[in-house]
Amino acid sequence: MCGIIGYIGQENVYPILIQGLQRLEYRGYDSAGIAILNGSLKVFKCKGRVSDLEQHVKDEDISGTIGIGHTRWATHGEPNDRNAHPHTSMNGKFVLVHNGIIENHTELKTDLMKNGFRFQSETDTEVLVNLIEYFYSKGEAIDGEMAIRLALSKVVGAYGIAVICTKEKDQLIVARKGSPLVIGVGEGSYFIASDASPIIPYTRNMIYLNDNDVAIINRQGLILKTVENIPAVFNITKVSMTIGEIEKGDFDHFMLKEIFEQPKIIEETFRGRITSDHSTIILGGLMDVFPKLLSAQRIIIIGCGTSWHAALVGEYLIETYARIPVEVEYASEFRYRNPILTNTDVVIAISQSGETADTLAAIRMAKANGATVLGICNVVGSTIARETEGGVFTHAGIEIGVASTKAFTAQVTVLTLLALKLAKENEKMTQETYQCLIQELINVPAKVQSILQKHLHIKEVASKYKKATNALYLGRGLLFPVALEGALKLKEISYLHAEGYAAGEMKHGPIALVDDNLPVVVVAARDDYYTKIVSNIHEVKARKGNIIAVVTEGDNNLNSLVNDLFEIPESHPIVTPILAIIPLQLFSYYIAVSRGCNVDQPRNLAKSVTVE
Ligand code: F6R
Repeated sequence: MCGIIGYIGQENVYPILIQGLQRLEYRGYDSAGIAILNGSLKVFKCKGRVSDLEQHVKDEDISGTIGIGHTRWATHGEPNDRNAHPHTSMNGKFVLVHNGIIENHTELKTDLMKNGFRFQSETDTEVLVNLIEYFYSKGEAIDGEMAIRLALSKVVGAYGIAVICTKEKDQLIVARKGSPLVIGVGEGSYFIASDASPIIPYTRNMIYLNDNDVAIINRQGLILKTVENIPAVFNITKVSMTIGEIEKGDFDHFMLKEIFEQPKIIEETFRGRITSDHSTIILGGLMDVFPKLLSAQRIIIIGCGTSWHAALVGEYLIETYARIPVEVEYASEFRYRNPILTNTDVVIAISQSGETADTLAAIRMAKANGATVLGICNVVGSTIARETEGGVFTHAGIEIGVASTKAFTAQVTVLTLLALKLAKENEKMTQETYQCLIQELINVPAKVQSILQKHLHIKEVASKYKKATNALYLGRGLLFPVALEGALKLKEISYLHAEGYAAGEMKHGPIALVDDNLPVVVVAARDDYYTKIVSNIHEVKARKGNIIAVVTEGDNNLNSLVNDLFEIPESHPIVTPILAIIPLQLFSYYIAVSRGCNVDQPRNLAKSVTVE
């Protein structure tokens, strides 16, 4: 949700800002803009993508060594030039970029208007920059930094901001509450960004800001304090991300690259967590809290979107194998519905980005109510990773495609490890079965690879369905969340309406949709529900639906019933969710490409949902 970039140093700032915005474009692409201070302030911004901004400035003087930039995912005010960031205060004393939402902007704006302030845009951000100028103009004793802190103390809501005071020329001020901000530490230079990816071409030394932090940065160093003016300490973290991870390489899209990375990612996620003799699972990040997990009255898994689908897989796995009651909740519902929580509950938050606003708020609420809160996160250093009491990192690497793919399979890998470990420690599984299922997981990367090798067949099938307007996805048991995830992938990148359903529920409503135009994707790999799902396939066939089935290799029973087949290798059901989602990811990808959709940056979406 909006990307922020900033730089102060010796180098020409423009290429740093533009390349940074390109890397951050996955966070929003409604408009883009930059501000450069070089004696005087220059602000360039326009509706559209970073490439539109480049065109917009091509004949302009863009020299300077201090600047800020922004790529927008619109919340307040439609995507247009006026609402694009950076926003300048009425008298031009401050310029600011913002990620987040100022919730009390209406009251603040009314007060500012009474004080003579006039506004150019419909954004909450312009209110904030004018509020800063309002405090600044109160007297000489108030410098830029103090004005910013005074303004922030009046703000309700979330922000990650980078601000330049045009009167204090060699300084950049940044602050965060609720929206992520990272400072990259170079030699006599500092980089600001919403995440580390635009910074790593220059430095791996990062400072992750905490909520309420304000950093005052000049070329000689930085001072960190709180909004209340209390000095704060910072740690410099070395990140291990490589430039290769943030480039597409030979792939047409990041999404395709990330789909193809999955064999490696899954292995990375279990590697080091399974002993070399394959006899034991070790989850270091849960060591201290494991007794709590084992004695939990119930485990509540929370997340949003794809992470919520992974949570559903986790529910089936943990209840089936470890026999611990599990509930799964949308973080956005859980946080507001005043759930009954006790200190015997363990909440596990799943999040790729580690910054999703609803998940973060749900974590805080659960903690305040006495629950033990753990995380399954991808981004090291993210807010959710830092605010949970323990957890497991997925090792998916940076995910840039807006539609989550490798993060999902990595999350499910972690949940499989967790379910197996709980089952073993809970004495619900023999050592023999435990080792046998660990081996199933170890075999997954090679099986995923073999599915990926069939991508041309999946592409061919996708081309048949590119003109569809609706699709129904069905699954049962562990494969029901896979159906949900398959449908989500299709709708978010190809804009086709797709619904995921528990196959047994079909006859209670969705069957009315079935006719000879409707593609029905049935996840029908061999497991305990197989005969039931075959009955559902018959029901669809009887109504002339076009059936595309994900089946186990060698299963010829369905050939005459279905129009198209995607085969996955024979496996124990515990790992079928990871295998079955792969053809569905590719199917959505190829449909979206053939419909001419922007796969990596689908309309209206953003990668990291830091607003509620
Ligand atoms: C779908 C997708 C979203 C995210 C959701 C949660 O492809 O990417 O549905 O899964 O916004 O994001 P995280 O996992 O970062 O909390």
